[in-house]
Amino acid sequence: MLSSDAFHGAQEVPVPGKMKESETLLAIIGGSGLTQLSTLEVLRREVSRTPYGEPSGALTFGRLLGGEVVFLARHGYGHTIPPHRVNYRANLWALKAVGAECVVSVASVGGIRPDCVPGTLVVPDQILDYTWGRANTFFDALHTSVRHIDFTHPYDEGMRRRILDMAHEAGEEVIDGAVYAATQGPRLETAAEIDRLERDGADVVGMTGMPEAVLARELELPYAAINVVANFAAGRGTSVQGIHFERVEQVLQEAMLRVRNVLTRLCQQ
Ligand code: HPA
Repeated sequence: MLSSDAFHGAQEVPVPGKMKESETLLAIIGGSGLTQLSTLEVLRREVSRTPYGEPSGALTFGRLLGGEVVFLARHGYGHTIPPHRVNYRANLWALKAVGAECVVSVASVGGIRPDCVPGTLVVPDQILDYTWGRANTFFDALHTSVRHIDFTHPYDEGMRRRILDMAHEAGEEVIDGAVYAATQGPRLETAAEIDRLERDGADVVGMTGMPEAVLARELELPYAAINVVANFAAGRGTSVQGIHFERVEQVLQEAMLRVRNVLTRLCQQ
C-alpha cells in the first residue's frame, strides 16, 4: 500500500530556481500552426540549458498589448522536432526557471466528438494518455523516496476559466471541456484506433498533451490548453477515406488568428 507521505507536498517539488523577478509572466507553448506570435513585441530571446538538456528553442520574451509573455515553439522554430522527440522536461523546466507563473499550451488536434469539427477551439478538461517511452517525470532519481502527484484534474481549473472568460470577451466560440487523448505519433491514427479512443471516452486526439501537462503539474505550474481542431480524426467526417493535409494548413491558419485574440486578452489580465 502507498503511504500518504509517498504523495508529495508542495515543498518537496524539485523546482528550478527562479532567475528573475517580474510581473505575472505567462508562458505560451505554441504547437503546429503557432510557431510564432506575429503580434508579439519581442523584447529579447534567451537560449537556456537545463539539467534535462535543451528546450525546443530559444525562449522569446515579449509583450502582447502590454502583458508580459514568454513564448516557446514546441516543435522548434523550424518545426523540426516531432512529438515523440520534444524535450518536454527541458521545456517546462526552462519556463519555470525564467519565472513563468502559468502555462498555456496551444496544440492542434483531430476531432472525434461530432461537434469538434475542423476550426473549432476546445479547452479540454481531461486526458487519456497513450504515449510511451517519453521522459514523463522529474521524480525519477534513484535512491530518493518515491513520489506520486495528484492528477485527478490534469488541467488547472483557474487557468481554464481564465481562457474561457477571455474567449467569451473576445467573442470567440470555444468548447468548454473535452477529453484529450494523447497518442504517440508521429503517424496519425487508424480508423479503428479512433474507434477505440472514442469508446474510451476521448473527444479529441493529439500527440503532445502528455507528458507536458503532468510535468507542469510536477513543477506546480498552473497549466491549461487551447486545442485547435485541425481535421476530423481518422475515419470521421471528411476523413473517412483519409486525412486531407491541404485543408489542415488552411484551417490552422484561420483558427490561429482566433487563438491569438484569446491569448492577447489573457496576458493583459
Ligand atoms: N491525430 C493526432 N494528432 C493530431 C491530429 C490527429 O488527427 N490532428 C492534429 N494533431
